[in-house]
Amino acid sequence: MPRPERTRIMCVANQKGGVGKTTTAVNLAVALALHGNRVLVIDLDPQGNASTGLDVPHHTGIPDVYDCLINSVPLAEVAQTVEGIPNLWCVPATIDLAGAEIELVSVVARESRLARAIAAYPGTFDYVFIDCPPSLGLLTVNALVAAQEVLIPIQCEYYALEGLNQLINNINLVRQHLNPALEVSTILLTMYDRRTRLADAVEQDVRNHFGDKVLQAVIPRNVRVSEAPSYGQSVMTYDPGSRGATSYFEAAQEIAERGAKEPVSRHA
Ligand SMILES: Nc1ncnc2c1ncn2[C@@H]1O[C@H](COP(=O)(O)OP(=O)(O)OP(=O)(O)O)[C@@H](O)[C@H]1O
Ligand SMILES: [Mg+2]
Repeated sequence: MPRPERTRIMCVANQKGGVGKTTTAVNLAVALALHGNRVLVIDLDPQGNASTGLDVPHHTGIPDVYDCLINSVPLAEVAQTVEGIPNLWCVPATIDLAGAEIELVSVVARESRLARAIAAYPGTFDYVFIDCPPSLGLLTVNALVAAQEVLIPIQCEYYALEGLNQLINNINLVRQHLNPALEVSTILLTMYDRRTRLADAVEQDVRNHFGDKVLQAVIPRNVRVSEAPSYGQSVMTYDPGSRGATSYFEAAQEIAERGAKEPVSRHA
């Protein structure tokens, strides 16, 4: 897999819950790290699912992304290595982060706390994935201000496109006022069930609407993907031969190749 010339900071966002944001952030990060990229995952969801999926300790008392956002602790001090995956680090989220949405309101430069923290990171990464919560609050805004690219996972089901306008509006607002470099670079179809005609219809809709932003790779609904987190693993390591793993590998490959063709400008 080609490595990008500059760090690609990708915000994985969709305010709809349970569409595969965390699964996508974790599995793409592992796939890219296993192929020689230096990757950081920032868990920006108080649920801490990305931390769980990467088996990174995130109980109360563990320094986490909350400390970086609210108390200006450097990201490097809270980032943990991911066991078994060289070149992969994770900034965990503990339940403390649940308070941040409110506490950030009165903090100076509240929308750009995460961008500043990433810019101050002394190491260099090929990729930074930010796993967003299912809301459009200040945490997601921080991720949109910190990123150059937005990756939107879309679940292949009936209401898939509902609510997306709201996300796109927010992205446009952030681009106008806070982060001109921001673009929706990647759409990934998740939990595709090829036995249903509906999944096919949703795929066509999404491809018509978003054109070549939509990756050719589609992630099927695959039980191995949903089992992996309970073993503190990505599906890439839990069952590398499964269709879930090979699809996430293909998606990672496409993302890497697209980045090599059109180098993404660095804004941080
Ligand atoms: N391709 C897949 N096949 C089967 N199950 C999947 C697949 N992708 C995700 N899942 C399962 O669907 C559920 C939701 O996925 P995930 O947690 O990644 O979504 P999310 O968008 O991050 O959710 P939230 O909005 O709560 O953060 C999880 O239980 C996950 O294991
Ligand atoms: Mg999630």
